[in-house]
Amino acid sequence: MSDRMRTHMCGELREEHAGSIVSVCGWVGRRREHGEHLAFIDLRDHTGIIQCVVDGAADLRSEYVVRITGTVRPRPEGTVNDALPTGQVEVGDCTVEILSIAAPPPFPIDERADQVDEMIRLKYRYLDLRRERMQRNLRVRAAVNSAIRAAMERQGFIEVETPMLMPSTPEGAREFLVPSRQVPGSFYALPQSPQLFKQLLMVGGTDRYYQMARCLRDEDLRADRQYEFMQLDAEASFVTESEVLEFISEAVLAAAEAAVGERPGAIEQMTWHHAMDRFGSDKPDLRFGMELVELTPVFAATEFKAFASAETIKGIRVPGGSAEFGRNKLDALTDRAKQAGAKGLVWMRVGEAGALDSPVAKFLSATEQAALVVATAAEAGDLVLLVADEWMTTCEVLGTLRNHIGRPPVHQGPYRYVWIVDFPMFVGRSEDGRPKPGHHPFTRPHPDDVDRLESDPMSVRSKAYDLVLNGWELGSGSLRIHEPELQQRIFDLLGISQEEAQRRFGFFLTPFTYGAPPHGGFAFGIDRLVAILAGEENIREVIAFPKPQSGVDPMTQAPTPVEEAQLQDLGLRLLPPRT
Ligand code: AMO
Ligand code: AMP
Repeated sequence: MSDRMRTHMCGELREEHAGSIVSVCGWVGRRREHGEHLAFIDLRDHTGIIQCVVDGAADLRSEYVVRITGTVRPRPEGTVNDALPTGQVEVGDCTVEILSIAAPPPFPIDERADQVDEMIRLKYRYLDLRRERMQRNLRVRAAVNSAIRAAMERQGFIEVETPMLMPSTPEGAREFLVPSRQVPGSFYALPQSPQLFKQLLMVGGTDRYYQMARCLRDEDLRADRQYEFMQLDAEASFVTESEVLEFISEAVLAAAEAAVGERPGAIEQMTWHHAMDRFGSDKPDLRFGMELVELTPVFAATEFKAFASAETIKGIRVPGGSAEFGRNKLDALTDRAKQAGAKGLVWMRVGEAGALDSPVAKFLSATEQAALVVATAAEAGDLVLLVADEWMTTCEVLGTLRNHIGRPPVHQGPYRYVWIVDFPMFVGRSEDGRPKPGHHPFTRPHPDDVDRLESDPMSVRSKAYDLVLNGWELGSGSLRIHEPELQQRIFDLLGISQEEAQRRFGFFLTPFTYGAPPHGGFAFGIDRLVAILAGEENIREVIAFPKPQSGVDPMTQAPTPVEEAQLQDLGLRLLPPRT
């Protein structure tokens, strides 16, 4: 035998190894005493657990690091553990070497730690990481990363690194700033994404670029948000939208296959309008029904005031909801609808033969009531919820209720991927009445709608698209503007003058006067994809060292104050703390 510290991994031993002498290394897990001298020790490494029968184990404590050499043997009758992959065998005649001793851990290193306060888990993340769940998640993540790289490279993309220190640029979220020592009073921004650089790579003739890119955004943290996160970021030249969707689909499907062992079918596509109209959301969760039903025609001639003047009336049917939603719950639903922007919410309990129990039933004609039941396909025992408002508000409110009532936790199967295409170019207007960009200002308008940019901007669609999985936005992208004149038209609409554009992102615009290829790209959040594929509801569970919601890392204490001398060097002086 060559000179090796271990011959096998703990989780690897099976009946076929019976009779061999092995050395295994790892951490001491649970132990069971057997008589005065003998103890059964569960030895653990990232591959699993193997039972070792140790004579004289008195000084072996939990989490000691040991090397055990012994003989693999079948477990005696009646002691086989079918729940454990190694449960047919054990290691006997053990010699134990203690490699490290360990203080008693603050929580048990097994599934019981799931119940431990997350701040404690994060404070001792290196212990938390020893657990099977966390090791599995890290490995799912690694498999996803490598499948993505392989898929992008198969398709002719090359990985290029872009700077972490860059000028401050506009892109949605707040930036992290880094003071410059060489140029006192000036700051670098950390990238929210490699967006500008990847487009310059296209101008630079790179043709197909990808990067496993670290992005930084100073946003409020949530289950699907961290300050720093990873994107698969990609950009390609001389491509159509459907080619971009294919490149990215290939990476996502390969990643899914690597994570869960099964390649999903082709990813369906839906227009933004369709998603809003049917699901009331631009990130529709397709795992459940309760679709929005169009009811405007049903109430075309209604006398009911709340409905009479509304642009759009829609409803959702909650199967069997009649009994489940008592008055308190209905009031709570109404509050939720109002928070989401509704003027009110009409509810109806459906009884036998289409009878409707509702405070507003008396305002609706018998024909309207009957047509409503037919349109919603409501049956006795169902609850129907109706909203009347502008199209967008009606859709959004019912989409919120639909998710609230019916949406399963994000990480529960099945996996439903969907591309949402043809996003509107602008969403809402800013205070000065200017349209606000839906994606970023470099997004290409839909060619069929460009004519209406000035006359009817809110009706213009863009060549922007999102990828959605189980109601989470996995990623976004677009075809970009490569013509300076078109870019200036968009800036004009947004109220950004030529001078301001030059000042704010001249470094980005000038290159486009030197011959830019048509191009487009995409970025998706690796953390979000891995979380769902690993069966986790929070991206923190698939990040080795995440930040808790407060943003303060309980392990490293970051962010921390710095020495006065460091501030001096940077030409900074602190203001008194805000009160
Ligand atoms: P966008 O800003 O939509 O697009 O980001 C793309 C994807 O990145 C992930 N993501 C995050 N994940 C974890 N924590 C966060 N704080 C966070 N913020 C975003 C999401 C999101 O869908 N440059 C453009 C892409 C392009 O146009 O090519 C961009 O960054 O999964
Ligand atoms: P009102 O006529 O304002 O007293 O409202 C009568 C009922 O209709 C109440 O239950 C309201 O919540 C509901 N309602 C009012 N406006 C709307 C609306 N735009 N969409 C749906 N329900 C509404």
